[in-house]
Amino acid sequence: MSIRLGDIAPDFEQDSSEGRIRFHEWLSDSWGVLFSHPADFTPVCTTELGFTAKLKDEFAKRNVKAIALSVDPVDSHIKWIDDINETQNTRVNFPILADADRKVSELYDLIHPNASDTLTVRSLFVIDPNKKVRLTITYPASTGRNFHEILRVIDSLQLTDNHKVATPANWQDGDEVVIVPSLKDEEEIKQRFPKGYRAVKPYLRLTPQPNR
Ligand code: BEZ
Repeated sequence: MSIRLGDIAPDFEQDSSEGRIRFHEWLSDSWGVLFSHPADFTPVCTTELGFTAKLKDEFAKRNVKAIALSVDPVDSHIKWIDDINETQNTRVNFPILADADRKVSELYDLIHPNASDTLTVRSLFVIDPNKKVRLTITYPASTGRNFHEILRVIDSLQLTDNHKVATPANWQDGDEVVIVPSLKDEEEIKQRFPKGYRAVKPYLRLTPQPNR
């Protein structure tokens, strides 16, 4: 069954390039980004994994752990990681799940038979510290994902959780944000947004980004 927003991310135990992983235990109190890719030794995936490794500090700043998945076994992952490190000028610093038995692929609905019977699709899940799924995306195999966009969504989710604001179209860190419609109490609004807000409409209230 497909995974929907708000679902608890299914737990699993699986091998990886960094040993056996019990997923929920491995996540601990962190946010998680679980992303699948079609196969080892494929060009787009090589660039995606290299770029994710380079974002290590950005993920750490946001308390996020990354974990990749493909249906190839551990020994293949280990050889491929050497290639990624060499060609992308980095060091892969996160585990790649070796889902050769497709246990995780089935749990997360990562094989789409009309795309391919055997390869996993390019899906990604953002999981919060309560293990809830907060973002799902699925890209075609031929299109590499924009990992800056993943960070942008995580920033938006964390702003919502911490400050009761939402982020408008094309929002970038530092831009004005939107006060969530459910927040009506003027005292709380004053306390939360000491820089004030402007109401373009009663339902469209803009305020400077509170954590800036
Ligand atoms: C890949 O690199 O994963 C890929 C590239 C083109 C088509 C399908 C997959």
